[in-house]
Amino acid sequence: NDSLIFNNIMKFSPDPKWEFPRSQLAIEQILGEGEFGRVLRAKALNISGPTGYTTVAVKTLKEDARESELNDLLSEYQLLKEVSHPNVIRLLGVCTEPGGPIYLIIEYCEYGSLRNHLRKSRRLQYESKKLINTEENDYDEPKTSDITPKDLISFAWQICNGMSYLSDIKLVHRDLAARNVLLAADKICKVSDFGLTRDVYEDNAYLKRSKGRVPVKWMAPESLADHIYTSKSDVWSFGILVWELITLGSTPYPGIVVQNLYHLLRQGYRMERPNNCSPALYNIMRKCWSLNPQQRPTFQELSKRFEKLLEDNI
Ligand code: ADE
Repeated sequence: NDSLIFNNIMKFSPDPKWEFPRSQLAIEQILGEGEFGRVLRAKALNISGPTGYTTVAVKTLKEDARESELNDLLSEYQLLKEVSHPNVIRLLGVCTEPGGPIYLIIEYCEYGSLRNHLRKSRRLQYESKKLINTEENDYDEPKTSDITPKDLISFAWQICNGMSYLSDIKLVHRDLAARNVLLAADKICKVSDFGLTRDVYEDNAYLKRSKGRVPVKWMAPESLADHIYTSKSDVWSFGILVWELITLGSTPYPGIVVQNLYHLLRQGYRMERPNNCSPALYNIMRKCWSLNPQQRPTFQELSKRFEKLLEDNI
């Protein structure tokens, strides 16, 4: 495994602009784990601007990761180098030099994933708030806070702005979902997890998928049927994400077996309007779920719609 990692690293010559000394990184704890990947919390000394210690998140591989996972991490690195927007997760540095595991150092988001945060806030409304949000709160748990209806619209608007930026630079996300958005201090949303974002073809659509779990309930019909991914299929996923926001992190299409979903969608079936969802907001979701990708709004148009909703709500 070591020699494999070494061989691959040699394909990418270390980039002095991003390389960060391992000796200035102190790993503190595991934030999350996937099948082959791991996200750690760490303190970094004098990283990108501020002097002193900054809390950061570190993406790395588990010991039993395969070559394809390494390639995913490295392609995520290549993509993250190119992006710069307040609503897109930012790369702070990288450790790729021999002598340890590969680390992608990214911004730390104190509230963790948006999906978990939404679900926690749901529990907060029922349990005694005092019990959870006290000083004795476990130090290592992500912060919790109340979420207002206006926050939900603000989250949708911020995610739109991040996605609008990504579509401008011709980057297709392919796995936009509440689990892949992080929430930072001051309730700032950051689109994250570019792991699947690779093989972008010239025509702005990309085909293929060799492995891994497929996020069926977030996928546009043309992605399910023909593996076509464009910013328009990201807009479909965004519509599902808005549904996740309104339902405070429910799983889409409750009770529907994923094997049946494609045919249901082709027949015109769509999720109904959640109880607490305004007709205006439901209308936006439904436009995102147009069978014809050309009939879906752009992220730029969506951003304007949410901006208006925010103004109306004041
Ligand atoms: N979990 C995954 N990525 C994270 C990040 N950047 N900050 C906090 N928790 C995370």
